[in-house]
Amino acid sequence: MQKAALAIIFISVIINTASMVYGTMLVGTAIDKYIMVFDFDGLARFCFMLAAVYSVSALTSWLQTRFSVILSNKAIQQIRHDLFDKLGGLSIRYFDSKPHGELMSRLTNDVDNIWQALNQSIVQLISSGLSIIMTLIAMFIISPLLTLIALLIVPSGIVITKIVAKHSKKHFAAQQKILGELNATIEETISGQKVVKIFGRERIIIKNFAEKNENLRSVGIKAQFLSSIIWPAMNSLNNIGFALVAFIGGGLILSGNTTLTIGKISNMLIYSKQLSRPINEMANLFSSLQSAIAGAERVFEVMEEKPEPLDGKPITQIKGKVEFKNVTFGYNAEAQVLKNVTITAEPGSTIALVGPTGAGKTTIVNLLTRFYDVDEGSILIDGNDIRTLDRNTLRKNLGMVLQDTYLFSSSIRENIRYGRPDATDEEVEQAAIHANVHKFIAHFPNGYDTILSDGGEGISQGQRQLISIARAILASPSILILDEATSNIDTRTEKNIQQALLKLMEGRTSFVIAHRLSTIRDANEILVINDGQIIEKGNHDAIYNKKGFYYNLYNGHRVRD
Ligand SMILES: Nc1ncnc2c1ncn2[C@@H]1O[C@H](COP(=O)(O)OP(=O)(O)O)[C@@H](O)[C@H]1O
Ligand SMILES: [Mg+2]
Repeated sequence: MQKAALAIIFISVIINTASMVYGTMLVGTAIDKYIMVFDFDGLARFCFMLAAVYSVSALTSWLQTRFSVILSNKAIQQIRHDLFDKLGGLSIRYFDSKPHGELMSRLTNDVDNIWQALNQSIVQLISSGLSIIMTLIAMFIISPLLTLIALLIVPSGIVITKIVAKHSKKHFAAQQKILGELNATIEETISGQKVVKIFGRERIIIKNFAEKNENLRSVGIKAQFLSSIIWPAMNSLNNIGFALVAFIGGGLILSGNTTLTIGKISNMLIYSKQLSRPINEMANLFSSLQSAIAGAERVFEVMEEKPEPLDGKPITQIKGKVEFKNVTFGYNAEAQVLKNVTITAEPGSTIALVGPTGAGKTTIVNLLTRFYDVDEGSILIDGNDIRTLDRNTLRKNLGMVLQDTYLFSSSIRENIRYGRPDATDEEVEQAAIHANVHKFIAHFPNGYDTILSDGGEGISQGQRQLISIARAILASPSILILDEATSNIDTRTEKNIQQALLKLMEGRTSFVIAHRLSTIRDANEILVINDGQIIEKGNHDAIYNKKGFYYNLYNGHRVRD
């Protein structure tokens, strides 16, 4: 299909260009053969002929546009698909290190620019190149001397185009970059609008935005201004060429040159005009190609990013023994966040992680899920180093309930079903019942089909939390991670959540990071983490009686976080 379309485009471009050149040739012939000798019949026949040639030209021009539109849209669909596909395989490390709006800009604006270029520029480039060649051949046949004169202007045109392209390229690249930053600002402002409003930052944000916007304007003008010089400059050059051909051609005839005729001179004039059109077009194409190239570079940067390898051995059913052996890790080379951490969790046990903010609790979770990999030491599940396991199946066996639940803009049912798309409606409801959220869902007029807008903006934090617990219950992982799952929740809802969590933890190896002690008192082992190290461990009574770090945290009533 694509090959056929390409073939049609190429054939159309060739026929189209040839018919344009031939049509002009006919005009010159008509001047000499019919007009100069007053042959009206011949002229009429010639008009039909010319109409036929130009019809062919119109038809092929339509064909080439039509099929290049089909092809370019197909190609851009593929690029979008590959890019989105790529995103799915990238590591959390990558997403953590890039502003999201900037990344989104690559998938939207940059792809659009490539699309524009594919859509018009490339076929036009071929067609322009071909018409230049064919026109030149026709001109050479008529008069090599006049052709050379017409061509005198071409090198200067090429030089101008080159200089301008070189300078405008960096402005186009800057333009795409600033556009990405602008989009990052927009995305952050929309997602963080509550924070923006509460802290009264609207003014400052608008000011910052205005600065970036202004930056974009000035870079945009520079980029486009430079390329806008090309057109008038080329046009003037071409007019000079036109005048030279007319002047010298006319002069040659007047001085008795017999190989030239009025028809031939008029052909040369039309050709030299026609020659300027594709040259101008190619010059103009530079601006759209430049921004497409800038976009393509940004798109390929993402494409070339190394994905998380997915080549480990798959695990089907895991019992849930988790061991950290002398794990050392830092997000970057400068700072170690975890130092020589050793943890052993028996299947079905509950391990609590407590400690001040920034101690490294969430980091432990990030390593277990392989969002990041350890620098030294190893993490084992059922005795297998997790680096030897397939990431997908590893994560399928892990369940997470976080402080910031993420719900998607779809129905409650689909949100609960997220981790197990094949679950039946009954199973979804059963999970919701276990999570103490069924009654609340049933109160909505649309029940489970209620659409959550914007990550669940319309319902309370506690209710969102319960839905995410139902989601974890349904997915039924062997290992469970609760990172601050009960933070920011009122005491009544907390009881509900507490119950739901206990239900969820039944029979699973659970890592609980909590800042309310009631959640962790019953844990099999409590690990007190400070500054990336485990400083105390044991059950509640044992480490409480040590009267150390944990004792102080406990008597501060809460494990502060
Ligand atoms: N993506 C990241 N990149 C760089 N440093 C990070 C990242 N996430 C956390 N850190 C740093 O690692 C340390 C431990 O963080 P974290 O494990 O989130 O602490 P906790 O969950 O105990 O509050 C902190 O100093 C934090 O600044
Ligand atoms: Mg944390």
